[in-house]
Amino acid sequence: MTAVENPYLAGNYAPVTEEVTATDLQVEGTIPAELDGRYIRNGPNPAGETDPDNFHWFTGDGMVHGVRLRGGKAEWYRNRYVKGPATSAALGVEPLPDPFGGERGLSSPNTNVIGHAGRTFAIVEAGGIPMELDYELNTLSYCDFDGTLPYGFSAHPHLEASTGELHTVAYYWGWGNQVQYIRSGADGKIVQTIDVPTTGSPMIHDMAFTDRYILILDLPCVFDLDVAMAGSSLPYRWADEYPARIGLLPRDGGADDVVWCEIDSCYIFHPMNAYDDADGNVVLDAVRHPKMFATEVTGPNEGVPVLERWTLNPATGRSSQTNISAIGQEFPRLNEANFGKPYQYGYTVAASARLDPHALLKHDMNSGEVLRHDNSGRQHLEPVFVPRSGAIAEDDGWIMAYAYNVEANSSEVVIIDAQDFAADPIATITLPQRVPFGFHGNWVPD
Ligand SMILES: [Fe+2]
Repeated sequence: MTAVENPYLAGNYAPVTEEVTATDLQVEGTIPAELDGRYIRNGPNPAGETDPDNFHWFTGDGMVHGVRLRGGKAEWYRNRYVKGPATSAALGVEPLPDPFGGERGLSSPNTNVIGHAGRTFAIVEAGGIPMELDYELNTLSYCDFDGTLPYGFSAHPHLEASTGELHTVAYYWGWGNQVQYIRSGADGKIVQTIDVPTTGSPMIHDMAFTDRYILILDLPCVFDLDVAMAGSSLPYRWADEYPARIGLLPRDGGADDVVWCEIDSCYIFHPMNAYDDADGNVVLDAVRHPKMFATEVTGPNEGVPVLERWTLNPATGRSSQTNISAIGQEFPRLNEANFGKPYQYGYTVAASARLDPHALLKHDMNSGEVLRHDNSGRQHLEPVFVPRSGAIAEDDGWIMAYAYNVEANSSEVVIIDAQDFAADPIATITLPQRVPFGFHGNWVPD
């Protein structure tokens, strides 16, 4: 296979090769003056040579991109390699010191970048160690949250707005048949972990929580030793015989208290949200893939990902399932203040089975209405909702997204009025280089 034949090294998946700092950004429209902070995102962008035959989209070393907004201006754009061992070697720079003495696997976290406790972290799953970045996205160090992280972290911690805590579920093949729930305090230190036994060693990309439960997605994409021994960079494969189930870990309980709810076989990367309903059930809204890494092993491509609702009964372990939207879509987000609570609005990217992105979608969970933001064929990356200060309405704020302008072969940050979702962006910031299709980002207010 050549780089052109591996779709994750071609087109707007192809890595960029320069670290750019730009302060003279072209802006069309009006950036809301109250937006004061950074919009940062992460994605695979291997430095140096890659083997196209063994390049998996999920395992390419990370690069972060960021735009800093203040006073209605786009002050800067920066992109920086996340400088793990392979990236440092490829760039010919001194590797950062390994604080673990070789006892943990180090990488360049490529999946998400978050602001937490006044710090910035690039993060990844599968036993990955976070890396701390400075405000301008330069890599500072490997990070175990001041010695409080038992081993690896995850790419998808979720903020609980009422406490400032982060909740996540980590996994690592080296742990055998168990995964780890991790609760991180508002001060950036881990305050609780619970090891939860699972059927095998599943890939658990993301999680959800409600007021009463932590949700653990134990689904049939599992560690495959044969694939690992054969040298695959991502040794997780679909296992038909593996039971698909969602664990409900009571917020005040332990591993023995988990209620496992069987669901029809599928794979879930991303919940949109979950909450406790009035009947004591747990409702989970998430993007459902029919399978994962069953036939295509360089990236997700196992059929149309759709938005689905599961209702899980903690008393019986039973579940039911309905479709919310049959449009192909991924990268669900919402007003994060509502994570874990009943909510009305969710946002996704319309996407093919291979997750090539297109328009943005806004879902009204009450009415079933789906609005489409389709801006001249631009390919939008994950939408992020930013509330207006003092907002009462759940959707009073802005959707921000990085977008690829296919015609111009360039990238932009678009800012959309979330209450006028289908209209043109209120501001479009043209970036000085492409931002390759990647994974996740966040608005980090100052
Ligand atoms: Fe993700």
